[in-house]
Amino acid sequence: MKKKIAIGSDHAGFALKEKIKKWLQEQGYAVSDFGCFSAESCDYPDFAEKVAKEVAKDRNTIGILFCGTGIGMCIAANKIKGIHAALIHNEFTGRSAREHNNANIICLGARVINFATAKKAISAFLNAEFQGGRHSRRVKKIKRLER
Ligand code: RB5
Repeated sequence: MKKKIAIGSDHAGFALKEKIKKWLQEQGYAVSDFGCFSAESCDYPDFAEKVAKEVAKDRNTIGILFCGTGIGMCIAANKIKGIHAALIHNEFTGRSAREHNNANIICLGARVINFATAKKAISAFLNAEFQGGRHSRRVKKIKRLER
């Protein structure tokens, strides 16, 4: 089953979120947008929380968060139990976030990468599979840190 995608941004990530949302919808993904809904200044933890809670309650949903650097969104999302959020910058980190880390949220910096690179990074994540094996052992150790 095709994953559902929950997206969110602050003002710095808003324009990139809008472009990525349209591009994902054109590919047939069911996208839920948790805001923000304008380029007016706002606080990234509010949107990280909404997306992270949605992803934490539904295993078939992955999250994509955008802020200026992707860093604030990543820190905030990882505070929610069950969330493994990864900051990605390109195709390599996008693919690794799935293959090695089994991330359920990816975070991108709209002041760091452009639309073309963001599309490549997100596609690499969406089309990769968790590789298991030694990576499972490591991800389990991360889960243990949550308890
Ligand atoms: C907003 O100016 C900026 O701090 C925010 O988008 C993000 O980069 C935080 O990590």
